[in-house]
Amino acid sequence: MSHFQMPALSRRGFIATALAGTAAASLPHAGRGAPALREIALRAAPARARLVPEPYPETAAWCYNGSVPGPEIRLMQGQRLRAIVENALAEETTVHWHGLRVPNAMDGVPHLTQPPIAPGDRFVYEFEALDAGTFWYHPHQRSFEQVGRGLYGPLIVEEPNPPRVDRDVVWVLDDWRLTPEAEIAGDFENAHDMSHAGRLGNTVTINGRVPETFAVQTGERIRLRLVNAANARIFALDFEGHEPQVIALDGQPVAPHVPEGGLVVLGPAMRADLILDFGQDPGSGTPVIDRFHRGNEYRLVDLAYGETPLRSFAPDWPVTLPANPLAEPDIAAARRHEVTFSGGMMGGMVMREMGLDQPGSAMGSGMMGMMHDQGIWFINGKAAEGHVLEPMLMLERGASHVLAMTNATAFHHPIHLHGHSFRVISRNGQATLHREWQDTVLVAPRERVEIALVADNPGDWMFHCHILEHQAAGMMGVIRVA
Ligand code: C2O
Ligand code: CU
Repeated sequence: MSHFQMPALSRRGFIATALAGTAAASLPHAGRGAPALREIALRAAPARARLVPEPYPETAAWCYNGSVPGPEIRLMQGQRLRAIVENALAEETTVHWHGLRVPNAMDGVPHLTQPPIAPGDRFVYEFEALDAGTFWYHPHQRSFEQVGRGLYGPLIVEEPNPPRVDRDVVWVLDDWRLTPEAEIAGDFENAHDMSHAGRLGNTVTINGRVPETFAVQTGERIRLRLVNAANARIFALDFEGHEPQVIALDGQPVAPHVPEGGLVVLGPAMRADLILDFGQDPGSGTPVIDRFHRGNEYRLVDLAYGETPLRSFAPDWPVTLPANPLAEPDIAAARRHEVTFSGGMMGGMVMREMGLDQPGSAMGSGMMGMMHDQGIWFINGKAAEGHVLEPMLMLERGASHVLAMTNATAFHHPIHLHGHSFRVISRNGQATLHREWQDTVLVAPRERVEIALVADNPGDWMFHCHILEHQAAGMMGVIRVA
């Protein structure tokens, strides 16, 4: 798929060093008897990052604390985080704590929940980690470029009694569009990316490095926490010959299960916690393949088994995670709200096919149909400009709500709601198997997805597609909980 992926993948023994480096750079674990408050400093600034191996040069990126990803923040559930964010970029920024149910004023949305942090300025975020799980942080100001240039990092909240594993490993995935000189291509916000599938790159990294191999041992059990920090790339990871058990999605526990077809599908911003048992022979190796784009499958990394087995049988330790303190929506009593996504290239055609483009319908025809074909994105007929918006929905605080979402476009959209987790209750009228809690749900073209939540976090919350080019091109709204 890329001019870096393939040559880089022929070099052996790369990922082990890359991952060791990241581990060494991460912050100390909170641990037991951890202080009630943890303070960290995050500095957003340009820096050089070794994304691709030599002989390529380092890449000029935008980084938290000089690295891609930014420092791994580890908290104990119930601990408070104080993050002192300094902006050493030449433009305004903010930090959004993706998936964490924080008070509205700590949510990091410029102009809506806080003034943006000016160059040279600071902002102090402070909140409690209510839920254990795998989360991440990133700017919410011009995020298509700020995240696209490397500003993001993992945030892990540990359960008081996590399931036993041999190793707890975080893979933050990203997808970069690099020039042949390994520079970040400067064509952010171009019309084609915005009206199609977003900014797809040519170089996929794990923890900020093009990976080579990932060392494992026969008999080993790993909890693998995947975070998709890419602007636009959707992954469907095949761990060939291994059966990943999904134990959490978007940080929230789910009944342990092997995903459909064995593929771990992650849209931008989504996370999955996997239990992986490595049962192959010592000295063997298998690739991890991304199969999302049919005909464009590629090898992400090789799993390389060491010569010495750790044990001869897979452990039988329990894998179920304790539930987080989320309020259970009452579906029978829930208010229903219809949400339709439209626009993008070929969007007018999809709407006509779905019978949504009738004269006099909410979406209208004529001009609107033409605009849809030209590739701006809409939620319930409106394209957002900036973050300060009239609320598209008002949700009564404390009540249960169902959002019935229709994707009347030709593209996938990972739809994210701030401040809450929601249950995904149905797809195309069929109840979901696991009623999974998510904060970002991937909605396929023409698909209808129902989500349910208790609106228990007051404030104005962003609701948007996490393909950052779609968000920038209007696919965003505000939901008010009051
Ligand atoms: Cu991950 Cu509105 O953000
Ligand atoms: Cu989208």
